[in-house]
Amino acid sequence: MITEDIRYIGVNDHDIDLFEGQHQVPNGISYNSYVIMDEKIAIMDTVDKRKQTEFLGNLETALAGRTPDYLVISHMEPDHASSIQAVVERYPEITLVGNAKTFPMLKLYFDLDTSRVLTVKEGDTLKLGRHELTFIMAPMVHWPEVMVSYDSCDKVLFSADGFGKFGALDVDEDWDCEARRYYFNIVGKYGMQVQALLKKAAGLEIQIICPLHGPVLKETIGHVLEKYQIWSSYGVESEGVFIAYASLHGNTEDAAKKCKEILEKKGCPKVAIADLARGDMAEALEDAFRYGKIVLAAPSYDAGVMPVMADFLHHLQSKNYQKRTVALIENGSWAPSAARTMKGMLDAMKEITVVEPVVTVRGALKESDIPSLEQMAEALLA
Ligand SMILES: Cc1cc2nc3c(=O)[nH]c(=O)nc-3n(C[C@H](O)[C@H](O)[C@H](O)COP(=O)(O)O)c2cc1C
Ligand SMILES: [Fe+2]
Ligand SMILES: [Fe+2]
Repeated sequence: MITEDIRYIGVNDHDIDLFEGQHQVPNGISYNSYVIMDEKIAIMDTVDKRKQTEFLGNLETALAGRTPDYLVISHMEPDHASSIQAVVERYPEITLVGNAKTFPMLKLYFDLDTSRVLTVKEGDTLKLGRHELTFIMAPMVHWPEVMVSYDSCDKVLFSADGFGKFGALDVDEDWDCEARRYYFNIVGKYGMQVQALLKKAAGLEIQIICPLHGPVLKETIGHVLEKYQIWSSYGVESEGVFIAYASLHGNTEDAAKKCKEILEKKGCPKVAIADLARGDMAEALEDAFRYGKIVLAAPSYDAGVMPVMADFLHHLQSKNYQKRTVALIENGSWAPSAARTMKGMLDAMKEITVVEPVVTVRGALKESDIPSLEQMAEALLA
């Protein structure tokens, strides 16, 4: 129970191996859905069909014999929308509520009779009784059709993927860490659109945020809004340096670890480090956005850079990586090409400063490499 009239009818998914077929979710994920019980009843989104049976059971219990009037569709991505057909089949009188972009997308996924639809636009309202929903368009706060809904009665924002988090609801874990990893990997590219939504939200009195993943937020709303402000503006959240490395035979790894030692000795408040091949790519991406300074260390490979580093840089580019200071360490035994390749990929990103010197290690890390690592560290911390 979220408020007297708003019930949680979502589900936890601990069986999923990878979210979106790519992100590790060691503590699972929740697909949230809510129902507003009033004179009219509105269901707020559905869940992934992976957990459809459990969801329909939760819905039936919440309805206590009544019939739902509306199904509000905030987002057509299948982790929330793939049970729409099941809801319509069970409650054929239900009216689907979406915007002009929702229904064409609905047809891509379902063969549904869409005669009972209500198309809403920015600022439209839907009165359920005591509760009245106001619809606010949030295009590209993950997908183009995304909208959020505000219930002025209980002062609740149904925020779609916004303010979501990896991790099922029966696991107690830090919000920031898994919400940040979720944000940058899922919504990260669309900072500007998130900023636009934050501006609209600033005009509302919000006491409760009901996202489509992760916990319902109440006491921490100020805190999460502050985090979203930083994240969506590509600001620096934590002082420190993130070192992302790849290494075939351990020599570049030695250089990366030496670099960490040097940075710490020079007073860097925090140095995070990750082996891109063995660690979680989504977490490395999160750390790249968390800190303002990053070191990329990788061996040359087939006249380019070791593929896992290229993959990492592709991830960064796809999520609109920007406004960061980057230092480079390359390795190579006949014609080092890693730094040039990494620089080329960084050129495609906005407001990236590459510090000098670029460090080139040839094979094993040697005493003679230390001065250039020291200089690079100083330039990075300057
Ligand atoms: C498949 C493969 C391709 C490579 N391509 C290059 C290259 O194009 N240019 C180069 O200088 N070294 C190349 N190397 C050599 C590595 O960059 C070199 O061994 C480096 O010291 C590896 O660092 P590590 O110990 O961190 O893996 C290649 C090595 C492998 C296994
Ligand atoms: Fe989504
Ligand atoms: Fe989602």
